[in-house]
Amino acid sequence: AMQSRNVSAWAHPAEDLPAAIRACTRCPLHECATQAVPGEGPPDADLMIVGEQPGDLEDLQGRPFVGPAGQLFDASAQAVGLDRSQLYLTNAVKHFKFTPRGKRRIHQRPNTSEIDHCKWWLHAELREVSPKLVVAMGATAALALTGDGKALSTRRGTVENGSDGVPVLITYHPSYILRLTDAVRREQVLQQFRADLSLAADIVS
Ligand code: URA
Repeated sequence: AMQSRNVSAWAHPAEDLPAAIRACTRCPLHECATQAVPGEGPPDADLMIVGEQPGDLEDLQGRPFVGPAGQLFDASAQAVGLDRSQLYLTNAVKHFKFTPRGKRRIHQRPNTSEIDHCKWWLHAELREVSPKLVVAMGATAALALTGDGKALSTRRGTVENGSDGVPVLITYHPSYILRLTDAVRREQVLQQFRADLSLAADIVS
């Protein structure tokens, strides 16, 4: 992490990508969020996992995947022999987008403009980490990584060409699984999610 880097990869002269992300004002989302949440993990990770955006807890703690979706991810990864500490975990969008409702903050999907603005950082992370494979969890990550915004139903479990030249394995977002109310369906989707993570582990091993 201390070796010199191509600083033209991001806007700040300092060789610190997380600090540059935390200082970002490229789109209006920084105005309401508590802080930006940069990716986390070894800079030489073989596998990069990309979600949508920080949730409520991630926004407060400044770390990715520490809330309920993160717990589901961690359990699923562990079940297929993936160790979170070896993965680079990040999001397509680095600021939490929400609408206030009473004391709660209700998640809002990022729009294409916000996703486009934040690609700057996702691509900088991809250049820095240079993983063998990226897992796109959910439609937002899939769009940011492949340029294709089509529905996930026919895409999940398959590897697509990423726009940065890194292969992208498409899977569900863990929050989607948590929202499924039909227990049978939820178990089925959870098995598919685990199978996708297991395939990712095989591809990079
Ligand atoms: N959901 C995401 O997409 N990313 C996080 O970091 C947490 C929840």
